[in-house]
Order: sequence, then C-alpha cells, then structure tokens
Amino acid sequence: MCPNRHTLLLFDLPQCARRPIGEYGSFISSTRGLMFSSHSFAPLIIRGRALLPIVQGGMGVGISAHRLAGSVAREGALGTIASIDLRHHHADLVERCRAHPDRATLESANLTALAREIQSARALSEGRGMLAVNVMKAVNAHADYVRVACETGADAIVMGAGLPLDLPDMTQGHDIALIPILSDSRGVALVLKKWMKKGRLPDAIVIEHPAHAGGHLGVTNLADMNDGRFDFARVLEELAPVFASLGLSRQDVPLIVAGGINSHDAVRGWLTAGANGVQIGTPFAVTEEGDAHPNFKRVLADATPDDIVEFVSVTGLPARAVKTPWLTRYLRNETRIRDKIGTLKNVCPTALECLSVCGLRDGIEKFGHFCIDTRLAAALRGDVANGLFFRGRETLPFGSAIRSVHDLIELLLTGVTRPPVAGRWAFSLD
Ligand SMILES: Cc1cc2nc3c(=O)[nH]c(=O)nc-3n(C[C@H](O)[C@H](O)[C@H](O)COP(=O)(O)O)c2cc1C
Repeated sequence: MCPNRHTLLLFDLPQCARRPIGEYGSFISSTRGLMFSSHSFAPLIIRGRALLPIVQGGMGVGISAHRLAGSVAREGALGTIASIDLRHHHADLVERCRAHPDRATLESANLTALAREIQSARALSEGRGMLAVNVMKAVNAHADYVRVACETGADAIVMGAGLPLDLPDMTQGHDIALIPILSDSRGVALVLKKWMKKGRLPDAIVIEHPAHAGGHLGVTNLADMNDGRFDFARVLEELAPVFASLGLSRQDVPLIVAGGINSHDAVRGWLTAGANGVQIGTPFAVTEEGDAHPNFKRVLADATPDDIVEFVSVTGLPARAVKTPWLTRYLRNETRIRDKIGTLKNVCPTALECLSVCGLRDGIEKFGHFCIDTRLAAALRGDVANGLFFRGRETLPFGSAIRSVHDLIELLLTGVTRPPVAGRWAFSLD
C-alpha cells in the first residue's frame, strides 16, 4: 500500500506508478497548509517524482510565466513556463530592446527573461511539484530556449508545434524530463521509435486534441480538426499495441491528455479511462495567479461559444482564439489580404524573426499574414482592441469567475468548490 499523497510528494516512489487507481484509497493533500478534500487519483510519476495528476499547459506569449507555473508547482502539480518572448515581463529588458531594437538584443533579452522566470518560479514553488519549460519547435530560437532551460535547472522540457525528434540530442548530458506534445497515435509511435534508437524514452507524452485546445493546433488544416484519430479514447486504445510492439509497458511512458478538460467529471473520466494525467490550459490562464493582464482574463472568461474561432496562423498551423476586434477585422479581410500581399515578403516588424517559417515575412500565401508576436504581446498587456487572445473551445470550470490556482486544482481533483477569497495577486508586467 502506498503512503498518503503528502508522503508521495516528498519521496521518489516509482513503484506506486504501477498500481491501479483503486489501490491508493483517498489522499488528503496538505502541501501548503491549505487542505484539498480527499481525492482518489493515482499520482502522475515523471522521472521518479510523484505529482498531482494535473499539468498546467505552457501558454505564450507570457501568459504562463513564473507566477502561474510556480503557483501550480507549489500545489504539488506540474507548472509550465512558456519560453517564447518573455522579455515583456521585465521593464529593464523592454527598455534595453527599445534602445537597441535589433535581433541579437531581442533574442538575448528573451533568454535572460527565461532564466529569471525559471528562478522566480522555483522560489515561488518552495521546492514542491515540478517546473517545466514549454518550447515550440516552430520557433527560430528553440534550441537556445532548451539550452537555457537545462542550464537554469528546469525539471522538464515540453515541446510541441513540430515534431521534437532531436530533443534528446539537444539535452544530452542534462538530467531533465522530456515531454513531447503530439495529437495522434501515429505521431506517438514515430517519436517513440526515433527516440528509442537514440536510447531515450519520453518521460511523458501530452496528447492534445485539436478540436478543443487553445492556441496553435496539431493539424495541418482546419478541416482535419475533428478527425476521429484525435479522440483521446482512440489514441489510448491504439497505443496499447504500439507499446507492446516496442517492448514497452504502458507505465513506462505516462500519457497526459489535453484540450477541453474543464470539470472534475472530465478529469475523473480520463484518468479512469487510462490517462495518467490531464493538461489544462485556458482554466489556468484565467486564474488569479495567471501572468496576463486582468483584461486578458476577462476576454477569455467572458467569451461565449460563438465568440471562439479557428483560423490559419502565420505558422501555417490552425489556431483557436476569441473573436476580439482585431481578429474580427483580420478575418473579414483575410481573403483580400491574401490576394494583395499573400506572396510578398515583408521585413519582420519586430526584428525578432521569432518563427523559422512565417507567412508574413516569407510571403507564404496559404499562411496567415500578421505579426503574431506583436498581437500576442498586446493581448498580454490587456489591449483588447489590438491583441490576439488564444483560448480553448470549452466553457470554464468556474464560469466567468476568476479564482485561485488552489481553488481550480481542488475543483478539478475533488469536485469541491469553496467560497471565493478576495484576490491575493496584483498584476504587474515587471
Ligand atoms: C492563451 C494560450 C496560449 C497557449 N500557448 C501555447 C504555447 O505557447 N505552447 C504550447 O505548446 N501550447 C500553448 N497553448 C495550449 C495549452 O498549453 C493547452 O495545451 C491547451 O490550451 C489545453 O486546452 P484547454 O485550454 O482547453 O485546457 C496555449 C493555450 C492558450 C489558451
């Protein structure tokens, strides 16, 4: 019998990962004096560490920085800093970039910001839980972000927006968990085979459903989004023979499902159906501790199903966001913009050249044609008129209410909702 969950957080107990949920009985969590009601889920075990089975998804630009990721880790779960363009959270770096708006200065500011955010999140976490850095393969500086995450002591790299086939090579010599984000069993099989040839297994895999998640979606075109091959149940079922054919047991690589998980029932359903953890994005973005401006949280929390749209981003990938004034205007004129400047190459408006392939800079007609970095940074600052507000498709666990990370995790794990406590966090971009 495993000890209670509090003990699980303090010791490495990988043998507990091999037990069915029922054997754990009920756990009372008391990670920081705040009690969760009991819950009965097995811990998520990553690289020998036992965590609550809740993962906070990485959200750029700046939406999940140190305050959100550190607060989630402090609860005993996996908190994730999104690595992309974190300089916006640091007034001195913003000032330096204003004075020297060249690519080298901007890139170096972002790496400095990432290192600072990891250190601050670590301090906030008080050594609990686990801290990951989310890196998008489609980003030009992805290898630098991975290097800084390793050198600054992040516990894990979570990589999506492209196949992370070379992630084991990039992290050679570092003791860090590696977690790819994929969407179907074919992608998982490919990564497992390629990585096993390098002598490495993923420490977990996130399976993200493109029909529900926020931000960039793991499909090549919009029409593909609802394809049955992305259904979590089907992916879990199809992976059983894949694991067997590779000589792996299901416990060797924990599977974390992501996209649209917005209630205790949904958490219970997927953990009972065979997932080892659930990744949650939008509900964490709108918590008190979320690193974005309060206006950002209001836009996401107040959006109705009709306000949420899918469109083609400058990465060429479909994305999901709230139809705010800028996006409404852009979509109204999308065809005209494509006809007029679709194949013209543009100078990168920010000088950062954030993406390795960009529809606007490289003149790729089928892709989006706007500066994604400028639009996402405006959203982070709460500029409702000009920002691009990524959001998942489902309703939120607390409706339009802004609640704390603790309350959200408690609701997801136990179904219990406590009366709200007055906001404990003030927003600051510094
Ligand atoms: C505002 C926002 C920004 C996001 N940015 C990223 C990102 O930078 N990298 C990434 O891998 N996923 C990103 N995502 C996806 C989330 O990490 C998460 O997997 C997804 O939103 C889960 O679905 P949910 O929002 O329905 O919970 C983003 C999602 C949102 C809502």
